Amino acid sequence: MSDHRHLIGLLLGTEEDWPTAFEAIVRRLGTVHDGTGAAHRYDVERITVEPFDLCAKPRYDVVIDRLAYWYYHPREWLKKAALMDDVYLLNSPFTFQSMEKHAAYCAMLRLGLRVPDTVLVPYKNPPEHAKYAYTAEKYNQPFDLGAIAERMGYPLFMKPYDGGAWVGVTMIRGPEELQRAYDASGQRLMHLQKAVAGYDVFARSLSIGAETMVMNFDPDQPMHGRYSVSHGFLDAATGEETVTIGKLVNAFFRWEFNSCETLIKDGVVYPIDYANACPDIALTSLHYYFPWAIKALIRWSVFCTATGRRPRLDLETRRFFDIADRADLSYGEKLRAYRALANEYFQTEAYSDFCASRLAHLDEIMLDWVRGPDFDRLLVDTVRSTFPQHEHDHFIAHYRGLLDMWKRDEENRLNRG
Ligand SMILES: Nc1ncnc2c1ncn2[C@@H]1O[C@H](COP(=O)(O)OP(=O)(O)O)[C@@H](O)[C@H]1O
Ligand SMILES: [Mg+2]
Repeated sequence: MSDHRHLIGLLLGTEEDWPTAFEAIVRRLGTVHDGTGAAHRYDVERITVEPFDLCAKPRYDVVIDRLAYWYYHPREWLKKAALMDDVYLLNSPFTFQSMEKHAAYCAMLRLGLRVPDTVLVPYKNPPEHAKYAYTAEKYNQPFDLGAIAERMGYPLFMKPYDGGAWVGVTMIRGPEELQRAYDASGQRLMHLQKAVAGYDVFARSLSIGAETMVMNFDPDQPMHGRYSVSHGFLDAATGEETVTIGKLVNAFFRWEFNSCETLIKDGVVYPIDYANACPDIALTSLHYYFPWAIKALIRWSVFCTATGRRPRLDLETRRFFDIADRADLSYGEKLRAYRALANEYFQTEAYSDFCASRLAHLDEIMLDWVRGPDFDRLLVDTVRSTFPQHEHDHFIAHYRGLLDMWKRDEENRLNRG
């Protein structure tokens, strides 16, 4: 029988919490046998940044990237690893560079999703160079921002076309706030988007490979209180629709580690933000859902490498648009058709079979680890490095409580299973 060793690379910024958890669980994973009986063993390593020869062979089979969105050098290394070496990447650096929030809005509008009305406004302060001044003088049309806002209807949001971390996002209730926000936008290119005012639920879906977790999110809470532990907070049909939207966006752009934000009002699901190259998976944000996220990252990395899943850089936009452009299909029928394409892309069925038959022991490994002292140390260290000292005791107790709840639920789930 053949024996395979796989190296998982982590390309990291400042995070310590989830990589520590990921490394601990991969070390305990042991041998995974694929359907042919071949053995697969896993190592994990943090990738360092250094000069690289474009023809040098990387040692990694899969790379989980949390850095390339911000820095060019690791981004270009990823592109080389994708184009030269078929390294499996979470995520594709190509579409994440070129498809920011604006492109995702356009694509999802074309596919018939209920993205709120959105207008892209020219720069308040355009780039300062002579050629631009000439072009602007000759071709830029004067426009009446107030009239555009009036037509869309307040309240609105003004936010950067490429987005990220709520920077530069302003709620706008009238003409004065509109002018103030636009003046403040400076050299940032801005969308004006109709607000989904008074929504019932903010659902944040975190997708890792073929898995999606929809979480109840409250943006008005401080960071530690945004995700609440709630099951069944959406009715079955809305939950299904929300999951489908997340999977659709990801399959369309080949994103395999992404979060998608949707607002739900009167049963209608409005996607507002779904191009997050580096989704938040901090222990202090996800708490109860943190063990799931780590397991999903491991399951997907193992599935891709053990089954030889090929990374796919090419998009198949036409297949999606062919569904979008059919006048005879309702919104619900289109979603079902997209869901089938997404399941095909993510090999959802093969993945579930693989997890059930080859990785069933991962649940026990995770539960055992979260019950033990190493996890508790990670929790304490993470709280200490995240919160001011006078809040340490409070938050250590808070997160221990949430993880105790996860342990109880998980024990029940595994005993039942
Ligand atoms: N159309 C909208 N309706 C209601 N709230 C919105 C809308 N757009 C943005 N927001 C609010 O602003 C926050 C940040 O906007 P978002 O588009 O998610 O940008 P970012 O990429 O910075 O996360 C959202 O989480 C939400 O609370
Ligand atoms: Mg957002």
